[in-house]
Amino acid sequence: MRRAWLLASVLSLCAPLTQAADGAALFAQHCATCHQADGSGTVGLAPPLQGEHWQRLGADRNYLAQVITHGLSGLIVVNGQRFISSMPAFAGQLNDEQLAAIASHLQGLQQRPGPAYSADEIATARSSAGSPPQSRALRMQLLK
Ligand code: HEC
Repeated sequence: MRRAWLLASVLSLCAPLTQAADGAALFAQHCATCHQADGSGTVGLAPPLQGEHWQRLGADRNYLAQVITHGLSGLIVVNGQRFISSMPAFAGQLNDEQLAAIASHLQGLQQRPGPAYSADEIATARSSAGSPPQSRALRMQLLK
């Protein structure tokens, strides 16, 4: 009896750890301040995360993973608007599961939703070399 009680308490303590990360909630908490909950962006502050260019940027599985783990800086032009600012790196704040949930949520906000991200894809980006200017160089290459 006592053992069953102990087991039940241990399981209830573990439950929050095994719950899947909620991409929409994490996006609202960490990204929406700048990019808005629907990803439409904020004029003069942060670009929309939607549009034609995402067909090309999103086609490279590594781009989004690089930007959210390592950040992005320097001039970018999105849907005709210029942004010269910087996107914070999230590798130090959120774990692979949380970032994968956010990236998958963002894929779902696209006109043509892209496939979800796995925690492994984020882990690969996290452990590879990267920096805000390198993300920008990759972006320019993909949009060439
Ligand atoms: C403090 C404001 C801010 C927050 C918070 C923020 N971003 Fe950004 N983000 C930016 C800015 C500014 C840029 C453009 C950087 C530049 O001008 O080079 C950007 C760029 C991006 C890009 C690249 C867009 C493109 O067209 O290449 C992606 C993807 C992105 N952000 C995703 C996210 C996600 C996902 C989150 C939450 C985990 C997030 N951002 C949180 C400000 C922010």
